[in-house]
Amino acid sequence: MAKFIKNDVKIKVLGICGSPRKNANTEFLLDQALDAAKSVDPKNVVVEAYSIAGKEYFPCISCFSCSKTGECVRSKKDDFNELRDKWVEADAIIMAVPVYHLSIPGQLKCFIDRLGNSIWSYEGSAGKHLKVYGAIAQGVHIFSGQENAIKEIINHAIVMGNIVTSGDPWESYLGGAGWTESRTEKNALKNLYESRSFDAEIAVKSAKSLGRRVAELALIIKAGVLHYIDYLKNDPMYRPLIERMKKR
Ligand SMILES: Cc1cc2nc3c(=O)[nH]c(=O)nc-3n(C[C@H](O)[C@H](O)[C@H](O)COP(=O)(O)O)c2cc1C
Repeated sequence: MAKFIKNDVKIKVLGICGSPRKNANTEFLLDQALDAAKSVDPKNVVVEAYSIAGKEYFPCISCFSCSKTGECVRSKKDDFNELRDKWVEADAIIMAVPVYHLSIPGQLKCFIDRLGNSIWSYEGSAGKHLKVYGAIAQGVHIFSGQENAIKEIINHAIVMGNIVTSGDPWESYLGGAGWTESRTEKNALKNLYESRSFDAEIAVKSAKSLGRRVAELALIIKAGVLHYIDYLKNDPMYRPLIERMKKR
C-alpha cells in the first residue's frame, strides 16, 4: 500500500476587500472566508485582510511604460504598489466586492487594469502564477449583478495565470454571494445573519466553504510545485511562480 508522506508547506492567503466602506457587509463575508481558510491548518495558513477603503488607485493612462519596465508610472502618487506587492507575494487570493452597477467597483477595476498590464505584459513577470483564487460578491438586492461581478474576478484571475475555485454545493456555485434584503447600512448582513435570515446564512455558508477550499487547494498546489520544481524551473512561463517560492 502506498505511504502518505507528510511535508508541511506554508501558504499566505490574501483577502482583498473591494468596498470603499470599512467594516461593512463585504468585509463581513470576506472575514468569514478568511477565518475558514485559517482553520484548515492554523499553523501553516497565514491570512491577511486588505481593504481598499481610504486607498487610491488612479486609472491606467495607456502609456505602455509598464510593458518595458514592469513598473506603473502612476504608482509614485497612489497606493497601487502597496497592494501589487501583497498580490505578488500571496499564494492565494480571495477577492470580495460589493456589487456596483451589476459589476465590480471602479476603484478595484483601476487596480486590476494596472496590475494586469504591469505584470502580464512585462517579460520579467509574465507567466503562470498559479495563485488560487476565490471570489465573493455582496449586493443590496438579489439577482442584481453578483454573478457578473464574480465572473469579472474569475476572468481577471484566469488571464493572470491563476487557478479559480468555488466553495461547496448547494450554497456556492461560482464563489460566495450575498444580499441584504434591500438594506444599505454597513452591518445589515451581520444583523440578518444573527437574526437567522435564511439568505444571510446561505451567504455565510458559501463564503466559509469558499475560504476552506481556497486554502486547501493552495496547500495542495504548493506541495505539488515543490515536488515538480526541477521540471517547472526549466519553463520560463513558470518564472513568477518559482520566484514566489524562492522568497519564502
Ligand atoms: C454606486 C453603487 C452601485 C451599486 N450597484 C448595485 C447593484 O448593481 N446591485 C446590487 O445588488 N447592489 C448595488 N449596490 C449596493 C451595494 O452592493 C450593497 O449595498 C453592498 O452591500 C455594499 O457593500 P459594503 O457594505 O461592503 O459597502 C450599489 C451601491 C453603490 C454605492
